[in-house]
Amino acid sequence: MSIHINAQKGDIAETILLPGDPLRAKYIAENFLEDVTCYNEVRNMLGFTGTYKGKRISVQGTGMGVPSISIYIHELMEEYGVKNLIRVGTCGAIQKDVNVRDVILAQSASTDSFQNRKLFGNFDYAPTSDFDLLLSSYNEAKKKGLEVKVGNVFTADSFYDEKGDVEMMAKYGVLALEMESSALFTISKKFDARALAILTVSDHVLTGEATSSEERQTTFNEMIEVALDAALP
Ligand code: HPA
Repeated sequence: MSIHINAQKGDIAETILLPGDPLRAKYIAENFLEDVTCYNEVRNMLGFTGTYKGKRISVQGTGMGVPSISIYIHELMEEYGVKNLIRVGTCGAIQKDVNVRDVILAQSASTDSFQNRKLFGNFDYAPTSDFDLLLSSYNEAKKKGLEVKVGNVFTADSFYDEKGDVEMMAKYGVLALEMESSALFTISKKFDARALAILTVSDHVLTGEATSSEERQTTFNEMIEVALDAALP
């Protein structure tokens, strides 16, 4: 047992999907996995283990933002030996040629979170995803005919009042805003684990366009299939 996860060692698979919303974790477990058990209910941050096409996989809610995901992934890697972590979430596009419903594979994550500055002092560490996971996800997304973009995302420490820097970030090639990937990539490296973030564009920060809940569900399902097929080749 760790502080925020009341599973036994061995209850959690080496490969895990990480939605922010614990009810999304439940949805994935119920709709995509077989032989499912729920291993965590602490704080209602649900975690499940099951099989996908005969292979063992877990899915764990992380909550929103750098501090919350940092707690869960630290415990997953340190206490339960998790080795492959794929965030499955949403983001807000900030480029004209990125559209709602597109899928973004985060190659890297810039951030205004202070967490890495505390860790690295004056250095600008570049949180980077795992190339093998990135490549296999890209190939799976293309195979499924999805509109997929690969690049730098911005892990924002605030959801509101972050708009001031958007123009600058867009100018320097950032594709979209989200709130967790820089921590995921950095902390996974510390534990010698592989990490990737697969994000569907839920809204467009420049145009204000947003997806309906039905569209979000469809693109979410497509993203989960990409993540599962890429994680368990
Ligand atoms: N900002 C941060 N995270 C997000 C956004 C956003 O605009 N949209 C979806 N996740």
